[in-house]
Amino acid sequence: MASKTKKARMVQSDNALSDRQGFISNPHFASMESDVLYHLALDTKNFNLTEMFSDVKFVCMGGSPDRMKKLADRLVEELPYSMPTGHTLCNIAGGSDRYVLYKVGPVLTASHGMGVPSLSIILHELFKLLHHAQCEDVIFFRVGSSGGIGVPPGSVVVSESVLDGLLHPHMSLPVLGEIKTFPAYLNSDIVKDLVKFAHDDDGFKTYRGKTLCANDFYEGQGRLDGAFCEYTKDDKMDFLKRLSKEGVLNIEMEAICFAAMCLRANVKAAVVCATLVDRLQDDQLTPSHDTLVKWILRPETIVLRYIKSKLKEQN
Ligand code: URA
Repeated sequence: MASKTKKARMVQSDNALSDRQGFISNPHFASMESDVLYHLALDTKNFNLTEMFSDVKFVCMGGSPDRMKKLADRLVEELPYSMPTGHTLCNIAGGSDRYVLYKVGPVLTASHGMGVPSLSIILHELFKLLHHAQCEDVIFFRVGSSGGIGVPPGSVVVSESVLDGLLHPHMSLPVLGEIKTFPAYLNSDIVKDLVKFAHDDDGFKTYRGKTLCANDFYEGQGRLDGAFCEYTKDDKMDFLKRLSKEGVLNIEMEAICFAAMCLRANVKAAVVCATLVDRLQDDQLTPSHDTLVKWILRPETIVLRYIKSKLKEQN
């Protein structure tokens, strides 16, 4: 009986959602009885996703599972949502060992691993999750790390626009044997707002600029220190200077997919990254572990200020 109720609710919500804009655009959903979000270890048969997630308004994503757990801990401390006595955070995707997912009030934190393929999988499943949960007006953030171009290491870059490794403002994906391209624009209002949340006394600078999304950490980012390299130092510097001239302030490995998929899902998105090295000076990440950890937390600080101010407006 209980499972019948759950199923009835799911079918009803899917019918209701098929008319709504956003998160998913897939005609095949109409004929699906249920949906398995395999990498999140969730599904629509055994979980009431609406009950679990319908209040979600923000999704913060970063590469590392450990960092996303720590960000969830930080949200517990800093947001006005107290955990009932005796409760602790749990990894909602704990049944899968691929990604982590935490929920603190209306904020989800989720890891996305490294690179576009890993990010793309979890974004598909998060959009389906938010669709099944009947969420509305959700904003996505990527809080990550990057290599800077001409900015001091430890700075924060809020991406105004993103380019792929060929300097195109779109994501390319082979689909059914053909290259499909998807535009990858970011919401300019959120960029403006995020930059306002940088303070003069932060102890680091926050910039807005273009972000290049490479398909690789070494050759894809013009490094000279990979296992293989078939270009000269001059070739590398010419490329980085060309990027700098075009207004590119940092290089990372996920932004093009993040921007393109959020645009397809009709959700607002922002990419905020710490720079761990100035690539005009160096390829290797030489600061101590403690320093790198301190720098990597900086994008979260900016995004948290934004989330807190939005929650204040809503209450
Ligand atoms: N992440 C990147 O993708 N590149 C860097 O240089 C540093 C972090």
